Amino acid sequence: MLVPVIMAGGMGTRLWPVSREHYPKQFCALVGDSTMLQQTMRRLDGIGAATPLTVCNEEHRFLAAEQLRQAGVENAPILLEPVGRNTAPAITLAALQATANGADPLLLVMPADHLIQNVPAFHEGLSRAKALAEEGWLVTFGIVPTCPETGFGYIRRGKKIGDSGFAVASFEEKPDLETAKAYLKEGACDWNSGMFLFRASVYLDAMHKHAPAILEACRAAMTGVESDAYFLRPERAAFEACPSDSIDYALMEKTDRAAVVPLDAGWNDIGSWSAIWEAQDRDADGNALIGDVLQVASKNSIVSAQKRLVAIVGVEDLVVVETADAVLVAKRDAVQHVKEIVSQLKSAD
Ligand code: GDD
Ligand code: MG
Repeated sequence: MLVPVIMAGGMGTRLWPVSREHYPKQFCALVGDSTMLQQTMRRLDGIGAATPLTVCNEEHRFLAAEQLRQAGVENAPILLEPVGRNTAPAITLAALQATANGADPLLLVMPADHLIQNVPAFHEGLSRAKALAEEGWLVTFGIVPTCPETGFGYIRRGKKIGDSGFAVASFEEKPDLETAKAYLKEGACDWNSGMFLFRASVYLDAMHKHAPAILEACRAAMTGVESDAYFLRPERAAFEACPSDSIDYALMEKTDRAAVVPLDAGWNDIGSWSAIWEAQDRDADGNALIGDVLQVASKNSIVSAQKRLVAIVGVEDLVVVETADAVLVAKRDAVQHVKEIVSQLKSAD
C-alpha cells in the first residue's frame, strides 16, 4: 500500500503579496487554474495510491478541506498542526498516523506547492523509486541542477543500486553559494526535490536513531490525538514542545540509508517570483504577463495583476505583482529577499 502524505504547512513568504499568512501559496492558483494543493492531488491520479493524508496548520483547515473537496478528494484525513514545527515533525505525525492500525505502508511525501509539468515521467520515476523503498531505502527524487541555487539540498550520488537509482554519498542542505558552485562543477550531483518515498517504519526507525526528541514529542502528541470528522488534532502541548527541524537537516544529512532516483519531469518548486516567471508561458520578449497587463518595449519581466490594469514600459528583468491591498516591485534577481518584507510587516504588527 502507498499512502501519499501532502505537506501543506509552509508559509510561502517569498511569494508575497499573493501568498499571505492566512492564505499561503499552496492554496493559491499561481500557475494554471487550480491551486497548488489541487494540482498536487491530481498528480496522484492513476498511481493506485490509498487515500492521501494532508498535514497542515490548524488555521488553514477549512481552506484545505474545501480545496480537497473541490478536487474530488472527499473526507480524506487532514492532520492539523497547532503550531508549525517544520517538515520532520509533520512527516513524523503522518508516519505515526499511517502505522497506528498496525499497517506499514510506503509513504509518498509530497510538498503541496510544487509544479510537475510531465506527470507520466513523474509516475515512471515513482515506480523506479518504489522498488528501492520496498528494500528499505529512504528515497528522494533528484533533479539535475541548472544553477548554483542556495535554497535547495545538494545530493552527491554514490554507488548505483539496482537499475533505478544511486545510494546517496552525501547530502548537504542549503549550502552557501561557493559550495553550490563547487557541486555544479563536480557533476554527479542532484538537487533534492523535497519529495520522498519510504516505508513508514524505516522512516520512524531513522528518526529514532537521528532525531529521537522529535519522534518522542510526536508520539506523545499522537497518543492524545483527537479526531473530529476527517480532522485529526494531535495534542497541542506535546506538539508545542517538539523541536523544530526539517527532514533534510534532521535525517537526510545524517542517514546512510538514503537513495536518490533521478527525475526529469519538468519539476519547479515555485519558490519565488522568478521560479513562476520560469514556469509561465512568456511572450516573444520573454515577459510572463498574468491578468490584465500591457507591455511596451519591456523584456524578461513578470507582471501579475489581480484587480487593476497594470502596464510596463521599457523595463527589463522586473517583477510587478498587484493585489487588492499591496503592490510588489522588485528586480527579478532579488526576489529571494521578498520574505524580508513579510518579516518587516510582522514586526510592525
Ligand atoms: N505540514 C507542514 N508543516 N508542512 C510544512 C511545514 C510545517 O511545519 N513547513 C514546511 N512545510 C511544507 C511546505 O509547505 C512545503 O510544501 C514543504 O513542506 C517543504 O518546505 P519548504 O519550507 O518549502 O522547504 P524548502 O523549499 O526551503 O526546502 C525543501 O525543498 C527543496 C526543494 O523545493 C528541502 O527539502 C530542500 O532540500 C529541497 O531542495
Ligand atoms: Mg519549498
